[in-house]
Amino acid sequence: MSAAKRNRMRLIEDRLQQIACSPCADGTINPIRKLVDQLPIRPNPDKSFLKLSIGDPSVFGNFEPPAEVKNAVRDVLSGSCQGYEPAHGMIVAREAIARYYTTPASPLTFEDVYITSGCSDALRIAMDCIGTPTKHIILPKPGFSLYQTIAGNRGIPTKFYNLIPEKNWEIDLVELESLIDENTAAILVTNPSNPCGSAFSVKHQLEILSIAEKYGVPIIADEIYQGMVFEGESHSFGELSKNVPVLSAGGLAKRWLVPGWRVGWLVVHDRHQRLSAVRGGLVKLCQVIIGANTLIQAAIPRILSDTPPEFYSSTLSRLKNAADIVYAELKGVPQLKAFMPQGAMYMMVQIKVDQLADIEDDMKFVETLITEESVFPLPAGIFGIPNFVRLVLTVPEDILREACRRMAQFCDRHKRKH
Ligand SMILES: Cc1ncc(COP(=O)(O)O)c(C=O)c1O
Repeated sequence: MSAAKRNRMRLIEDRLQQIACSPCADGTINPIRKLVDQLPIRPNPDKSFLKLSIGDPSVFGNFEPPAEVKNAVRDVLSGSCQGYEPAHGMIVAREAIARYYTTPASPLTFEDVYITSGCSDALRIAMDCIGTPTKHIILPKPGFSLYQTIAGNRGIPTKFYNLIPEKNWEIDLVELESLIDENTAAILVTNPSNPCGSAFSVKHQLEILSIAEKYGVPIIADEIYQGMVFEGESHSFGELSKNVPVLSAGGLAKRWLVPGWRVGWLVVHDRHQRLSAVRGGLVKLCQVIIGANTLIQAAIPRILSDTPPEFYSSTLSRLKNAADIVYAELKGVPQLKAFMPQGAMYMMVQIKVDQLADIEDDMKFVETLITEESVFPLPAGIFGIPNFVRLVLTVPEDILREACRRMAQFCDRHKRKH
């Protein structure tokens, strides 16, 4: 046998042993899912496991979508939604979403709407369509970790602007401006915010838009929590923008409490037709998976028109009540500082590690808390900010109180003795 043939045989034999994972797949990391799905720590077997970690309002059965939303899906079952539809969405659904988000200042048509498989997919498509290996996207810190997952997977470079906790997590605008250069593809903003639970004032939104306008940079707005603010109104960046192109990502997951239904959308606000080429790209990227679930798409017109306004207001008052409970429970714990949210479904709590004896950071805090108290908040290092944890507010009241009580006891046990 020739050396070349022997070599080929050996390569084939190797392949029969192990199929290699591609570097692209291997390097794709979603830190939240990694921690939550493959938790390496065992909770204390003597205490019930209280998970305040995952932003899924359906987990405990206490936040249900309204009957009108379920009926809308039940009724389309008898129709004909079994087939493929245009990959960027059914026209009836796109029209309904355009109607829902149209304002006098920002009129939309179905052509401005692209339906996606959840908001995650809308973000993937938006980032993929605008970012390139030489053009970076500027992300929030702390920020939803999926942005980095997507950027890493697509080879899009990133930069980060800081959010300031003491200013209701507003953006450090001076820093944001300093990060923009000729290779900036987009600024990504999240409003209201996961993980911070913050909601920007209109004044702050206009300040951000004015920086983007100065440098001609488009905005990707993750607005999955739009409308979910405890007080005052909620405005999308697209609605407020006069000159900046805005790609607004949204979906059914949070406001309608159905994350598992996996339908989201991208709404393009582009008053000066600067995104004509991008629109073509969005359609092409939607075609990669041939579109989102058609059953849910077909129900969208009724989901949007039939959801009673009281459903939205009661969800928000329950979330605000949960935030008030956590804030009050943790107020007297010297080693923790809770930051009151203005919207979404999360609360950030700072860990004063210098006041704890053997806890050097948020990861150690969470690991030890799980082992001793069976309480699982997310370490906010995952979101890019050290020594905070993120609590989810859709957890039933009694579990929230118990979790806070155990955190207080934990901090007392581990407090640094001077
Ligand atoms: C800020 C933010 N964007 C996007 C998503 C993803 O939404 P979807 O479940 O519709 O993909 C989430 C989910 O937690 C989120 O918090």
